[in-house]
Amino acid sequence: MIERVAIDPPALAAPLAAALDPELPARRVGPAIEPPAGVRTYHTDLARWADPAWDPGPLDWSLGDHAWNEPVWLRVRAPARGAPARLAPLLERALTRLQRFVDRRNDVSGGPWFDRVLRRHRALHDRRLPLVRADHDHAVDTWRWVLRLRPDASLALQAAALFHDVERLRSEARARKEHLAPDYVAFKTAHARAGAALARRALTSAGVDAATIAQVEALVVGHERPGDPGDPGDEERALLNDADALSFFSLNASGFLDYYGPDHTRRKVAYTLDRLRPAQRWRLGRLHLRGDVLALVREQVPALEDGPTGRGAPGDTEGLSRRSSA
Ligand SMILES: [Fe+2]
Repeated sequence: MIERVAIDPPALAAPLAAALDPELPARRVGPAIEPPAGVRTYHTDLARWADPAWDPGPLDWSLGDHAWNEPVWLRVRAPARGAPARLAPLLERALTRLQRFVDRRNDVSGGPWFDRVLRRHRALHDRRLPLVRADHDHAVDTWRWVLRLRPDASLALQAAALFHDVERLRSEARARKEHLAPDYVAFKTAHARAGAALARRALTSAGVDAATIAQVEALVVGHERPGDPGDPGDEERALLNDADALSFFSLNASGFLDYYGPDHTRRKVAYTLDRLRPAQRWRLGRLHLRGDVLALVREQVPALEDGPTGRGAPGDTEGLSRRSSA
């Protein structure tokens, strides 16, 4: 896990931490100093996170080689004369993209019970396989999004975030096939149903109680559609859809485009935007979207801005919700 985000020049560390969105781990941001002996340091240049032509894939791929198993530092080089208010959105992009490597729990997932769940989840994933590695990354990233969107998320919701796509480990570990499905919605519905059964098995072996497992199953079964937005009983399901969709755009979309090409990705972008509630769409403007992904999103959401000045304000969904009325 990333233990410290070390800012260079050091004088920018405190103002950047102070300007950071409260959802992000400001306590880990500090001045660039010499790391403890034996701690690996990864490097990133903050200016790159403003460049849609830049793909952070190689950075987080290299982090994934070690950051799951040992503490690492991320050294962030910032322009010496940069204004913290302009730089903080770029640091937010970086920390969002890499959030799976920054440990975050809440009261209900902070204990040894959830450690067992995490170990079981990790054991299912053979990270030597690139597609499985991507699935593991996405699962943990979706869990992190759940905790950002709902810091007091229930155990069932957190476990469902981790296990929602576990079915892919069976059907698509070596090659994807969703683009071959004659009926995409039916394919995704079957994926969700089968995933619920696999989640039940995994959580049972991790010693999770029956009531929680039943809640996880219901959430995984429904994770491909947000349910009735007016039904309070569907709130957790809608939240899981939000988290899954945000993880797609934040972490997976560029790899998805590389793998499937623009036609299927265009359909996936539309499908995923429909799963993201309008009230959360402002977040798309705060992500680092690679240029070709950004272009596909803008086909659906013309008002999407990018860059440090393009930060949508929370609640400012006008324009960013056009897809739902298109
Ligand atoms: Fe997913």
